[in-house]
Amino acid sequence: MSATEATGTEPGSTVPAQSMPSAGPPSTGLSGTGSSGKGLPGTRLPGAIDAPVMGEPDAGGRFGEFGGRFVPEALVPACDELEAAFRQAWSDPAFHAEYEHILSEYGGRPSPLTECRRLSERIGVRVLLKREELNHTGSHKINNVIGQALLTTRMGKLRIIAETGAGQHGVATATAAARFGLECVVYMGEVDTARQALNVFRMQILGASVVPVHSGSRTLKDAVNEALRDWVASVETTHYCIGSVMGPHPYPWMVRELQRIVGDESRAQCQALLGGPPDLVVACVGGGSNAAGIFAGFADTSARLVGVQPVGGAAIGRGLPGVVHGMKSYLMQDEAGQVLEAESISAGLDYPGVGPEHSHLSALGRASYPQVNDDEVLDAVQVLARTEGIIPALEPAHAIAWLLREAGREVPTGSTVLVNLSGRGDKDADQVMRLLTERGSP
Ligand SMILES: Cc1ncc(COP(=O)(O)O)c(C=O)c1O
Repeated sequence: MSATEATGTEPGSTVPAQSMPSAGPPSTGLSGTGSSGKGLPGTRLPGAIDAPVMGEPDAGGRFGEFGGRFVPEALVPACDELEAAFRQAWSDPAFHAEYEHILSEYGGRPSPLTECRRLSERIGVRVLLKREELNHTGSHKINNVIGQALLTTRMGKLRIIAETGAGQHGVATATAAARFGLECVVYMGEVDTARQALNVFRMQILGASVVPVHSGSRTLKDAVNEALRDWVASVETTHYCIGSVMGPHPYPWMVRELQRIVGDESRAQCQALLGGPPDLVVACVGGGSNAAGIFAGFADTSARLVGVQPVGGAAIGRGLPGVVHGMKSYLMQDEAGQVLEAESISAGLDYPGVGPEHSHLSALGRASYPQVNDDEVLDAVQVLARTEGIIPALEPAHAIAWLLREAGREVPTGSTVLVNLSGRGDKDADQVMRLLTERGSP
């Protein structure tokens, strides 16, 4: 039985994955979230308000009605083992010290906060960029992967597998595998291997095996399916390094905590620069890890949290609650519960689901999840390149595109906006060159 056909293993849950009926419209209000409101242990950062969001999920791994652990029996012990290893590590100062040391001396943290003077002048909004694209390997993905590679060695496993869409998570995983001496296999949809050929080569030169996935839409969701199949067969020796805040518990929570460093750093940088939080925090959302990481630093402040989705992959807005890849979340699906194909200009956002905590934040009304189209994204790449000398990856260009569209509308003139620049544009250069040439506007 494939993982995506698995029956739920939560008490009382027997609903087949991908055919979970709609649970109706999302609940609103702050009750019954199961969240503890916990941020960094013992810290109360300046600008904090009392909002019980982005804490630990409940005992079943739920954020409100979303999340959980819907996996085949064979994976339950591995999820339990991982949860125990993560809990133990995350409460161990020695683990934090090692994780932060590696991210600093190897990964290049802290990433700077850049004031965008020319762009701000142009749109009448003060724009700050959190420069995650300056990390080693070119995106935020390295934060998560270093943490999971450390956990892999702590669990005594020697093999690591991953799925990848844009290739950034695959490259980050291959990098960490080389750094820690682990065998590495990366599953990647065939369509993505073509549009991200450079990243395929990067993974291979780092010593990883890249397995093209020919099933389904041959994109990220199919790569996750294949990685889950591998894990079922190899769970004794293998850690599955999921690249976003998705999958069965503990992944959505663990990956958010491993990306929290983005939000915590930004919070301190905003405090130093602005004397408090910005008015808005904006990030693109594929699975949702760069957004969750930066939101986590501001969830207990008055800052508006905005997760920008591609029109063709807007699980929140176009989807219904359903079960896929071991979690319950908003999911683009047809009336029979079959997962629909996502269609986005950016491989990293080409995913019909979304991390369950984002579904929860949306249901609570704590974050909003608007959509932008591919043309707006291409415009945004050029605007940021020409006003600030920074070529963004197509994924964070979604966040910039929303800001360009909404400055002076949804985003009041004069407000201060922090944008997570989750990755750099090198990987997309060929694709953007082709698309702009087709449009006649390179
Ligand atoms: C640069 C970049 N940003 C964002 C994403 C989307 O992932 P997430 O929503 O988990 O941050 C990806 C995924 O590959 C990416 O490469």
